[in-house]
Amino acid sequence: MSQNRLKYSVEGLGENLLTTQYDLMIRHATVLNSSQTPVKVDVGVSGGKISAISPQLEATATQDINAQGNLLSPPFVESHIHLDSALTAGEPRWNESGTLFEGIQIWGDRKRQLTVEDVQKRAIQTLKQQASQGVLLVRTHVDVSEPSLTALQALLALREEVKDWITLQVVAFPQDGIYSRPDNETLLREAVQLGADVVGGIPHYELTREDGVKSVQCIFEIAQDGDRAIDLHCDEIDDPQSRFLEVVAAYASHTGMGSKVTASHTCAMGSYDNGYAYKLMGFLKRSQVNIIANPLINITLQGRSDTYPKRRGVTRVKELWQNGINVSFGHDCIQDPWYNLGTGNMLDVGSMGLHVCQMTGQDEIAACYEMITHNGAKTLNLEDEYGIEVGKPANFIILDAASPYEAFCRRATVTHVVSRGKLLARTPVVETEWFGD
Ligand code: FE2
Repeated sequence: MSQNRLKYSVEGLGENLLTTQYDLMIRHATVLNSSQTPVKVDVGVSGGKISAISPQLEATATQDINAQGNLLSPPFVESHIHLDSALTAGEPRWNESGTLFEGIQIWGDRKRQLTVEDVQKRAIQTLKQQASQGVLLVRTHVDVSEPSLTALQALLALREEVKDWITLQVVAFPQDGIYSRPDNETLLREAVQLGADVVGGIPHYELTREDGVKSVQCIFEIAQDGDRAIDLHCDEIDDPQSRFLEVVAAYASHTGMGSKVTASHTCAMGSYDNGYAYKLMGFLKRSQVNIIANPLINITLQGRSDTYPKRRGVTRVKELWQNGINVSFGHDCIQDPWYNLGTGNMLDVGSMGLHVCQMTGQDEIAACYEMITHNGAKTLNLEDEYGIEVGKPANFIILDAASPYEAFCRRATVTHVVSRGKLLARTPVVETEWFGD
């Protein structure tokens, strides 16, 4: 059982700070304290930070929001998305087989038409769509297998443009593999020099096992040289012989990079035999590697070569969580060649993970909420700036729900999004008028 679910610390609780005028006051909110007990509080915000959390604040504020007893939560974290391909579904054609490999072929054609304006227009639209639904931290992968690095330059510029309302991390991702073309390693190194925050990779898509291992070694060298984090697409395949996660864990341990290393997808872990999977679990825990599962896309992409029984294709989220390994959930794709659905709503992602991984117990549901909030911040190495605590940046959301459980149950609306101490987005709750008996 997780000892760290929903780690919202409510510091300052019990103090009634009457002394000031706040920029923003949230009244009658419910927050979860460190022992997961719901607590009714007022939250005062000034200078972009949380200034006070108390059962009742008598002070005045420039702007007041009545939370009406609803949940005030840290923002959602999108720990894995591809903004360069977002909103391109059907261009130049639809992925009719639904496989990863047809998706890569379609993207290979689409990316020849990329311009900075094209990438930025779709990326900003996606970010606004996500932010309006409570996402304020995003890690995006960007394909750097393409010689002009157009998409990378577009997203690096956008990272600066949006920094006053959303935090964006950019992963240099060699979509076609480092060794599929002679220039790809150079392009990856160039992408890091241009300012990518994180070094990516795709060892299971390299031509041989040996090339895959070599690619992991290369990625760690680039990351260490440039003092960058690592986030690899790792074993996104149903092949039980795809075993690059052990290589990543070994390098994370040997180099001491530990929690700066993330393995995304790790679908093959769902196909490993138990003996190997549980040996690996111990190595993962020791290495402190983060895992990101992308349940919406992997429930549709994987298992395509199976008849029945048909594998779910999502990594062993429940068991990883039970073993104390940091797991978060991401979208991966929103309306692109690999996944032609998606609206950017993290409750959709968490809910799919909850279902596919059979995490329906109350503690498990709470853990799934943590996987779209706190665990994602930990994976992005932004934990210090994240959470509902006095002195931290005032980034939070209010949901039309009293608890994470209720938020999943009703796919609650995020009614208010506060970023850097200011109201960024407000969404009214839709009400049904009933005319029947
Ligand atoms: Fe991905």
